Amino acid sequence: MEQLKAYQEANKQRYLDELLDLLRIPSVSADSKFEADVIQTAEFIKEKLIEAGADNVEICETAGYPIVYGDKIIDPNLPTVCVYGHYDVQPADPIELWESGPFDPVIKKTDIHPDGAIFARGACDDKGQMYMHVKAFESMMANNALPCNIKFMIEGEEEIGSPSLGPFIRANADKFACDVILVSDTGMIANDVPSICTGLRGLSYVEVEVVGPNRDLHSGIYGGAVGNPANVLAKMIASLHDENGHITVEGFYDDVETVSDEEREAMNKAPFSLEVYKEHLDIDAVQGEKGYTTLERGSIRPTLDVNGIWSGYIGEGAKTVLPSKANAKISMRLVPNQDSETITRLFKEHFEKIAPDSVKVTVTPHHGGEPVVTPTTGIAYQAADKAYQATFGTAAIPQRSGGSIPIVAMFEEVLGVKTILMGFGLNSDAIHSPNEHYGLFNYYKGIETIPYFYQYFTEMSAQ
Ligand code: BES
Ligand code: MN
Ligand code: MN
Repeated sequence: MEQLKAYQEANKQRYLDELLDLLRIPSVSADSKFEADVIQTAEFIKEKLIEAGADNVEICETAGYPIVYGDKIIDPNLPTVCVYGHYDVQPADPIELWESGPFDPVIKKTDIHPDGAIFARGACDDKGQMYMHVKAFESMMANNALPCNIKFMIEGEEEIGSPSLGPFIRANADKFACDVILVSDTGMIANDVPSICTGLRGLSYVEVEVVGPNRDLHSGIYGGAVGNPANVLAKMIASLHDENGHITVEGFYDDVETVSDEEREAMNKAPFSLEVYKEHLDIDAVQGEKGYTTLERGSIRPTLDVNGIWSGYIGEGAKTVLPSKANAKISMRLVPNQDSETITRLFKEHFEKIAPDSVKVTVTPHHGGEPVVTPTTGIAYQAADKAYQATFGTAAIPQRSGGSIPIVAMFEEVLGVKTILMGFGLNSDAIHSPNEHYGLFNYYKGIETIPYFYQYFTEMSAQ
């Protein structure tokens, strides 16, 4: 491991330069304008896997963007780790809020990242975190230090719900046969408080449309006499939570797992300051479901939130108009044992039921995904924990996250394999937001920690 560290140290600048090149390609999967760039990013990963020493590297075509595959099988009797990550990124909008170009990475120091952080879309989610694995692999190959078999599965559609990956792994289950899936696409508590993500929420995402009169109307002639879709939608949305912050959709909580008092107690012992949390977000107070702490609201409880809402005149000045329709996009984050299809159906039924006769309502489902909890017992967790101890000097804290990576539940269902989530991002890294960044400390620490995981996982598998 000393030799490996020296090699990584000597190649630091190149590791950074390569990531910066990767970040310059605007691989936005949601916007077809970037199609050629997304494909070019897959090519980039392919080349880097080959350079690092992977075999069987290929760009696997799918109905959507390709999956980059590569492997190194040193001995079929040794365990196999499959690394999953994504090379696509979220759209950069709103562009005007970026202090530097989203695809023109710059390094700046921040309070939280005194050694500097890379500012670019995808720096943390997930190009920076995914690329740590390519470089960790390269350093092991260069030093004859790979202890087990490795497979890489890097997709380009995570940010749009992984529509092609599910069918691809179902059709190619043998190709991805492995003992554990390793993912760096989540966060940790702080740079001196490593944590292992032990759960992800599921997702039900719907779009609603409320239609009133067949055209926009003069708000003086018709106002007060005709149902205004914008008013109606606002009222309907407001009614989706009661005064205690509970979601009012019938049956919404029926399958929600009750987390034991012991587990809740342990969860709330994690280092967390509500004051610092509020300060970072510039808010005077938090809000959420009554009876739960902020940490619980953001991980073990389901949610319902408007993600976008639009209607009527939003141009300059005043236009006295009563809009003909109003729309909203709504996400529901789900916890074990909720099922995304059931929740989507319950939402649709409820939303149609509460609509007044003055409007017509349609609910269109988008992509969804199932929640997961990953084990804190077993060798993958233990190996990850030991790896953090080796490089951070302190044990990792298990913590469930509020975000979603729908494919994780599918790996378990289709491949029968558990996932270990070794994320190195921070909540303050602004993923999906303007000025997304990733600490240089985090990037290098990830590259340093990953080989220890392989080492310990291989040792423990043999016992
Ligand atoms: N990497 C994130 C998920 C994440 C971030 C999990 C931080 C835990 C901590 C992933 O790329 C993502 O953004 N997922 C989407 C869902 C997807 C279906 C678009 C999400 O959570 O909104
Ligand atoms: Mn991600
Ligand atoms: Mn994301």
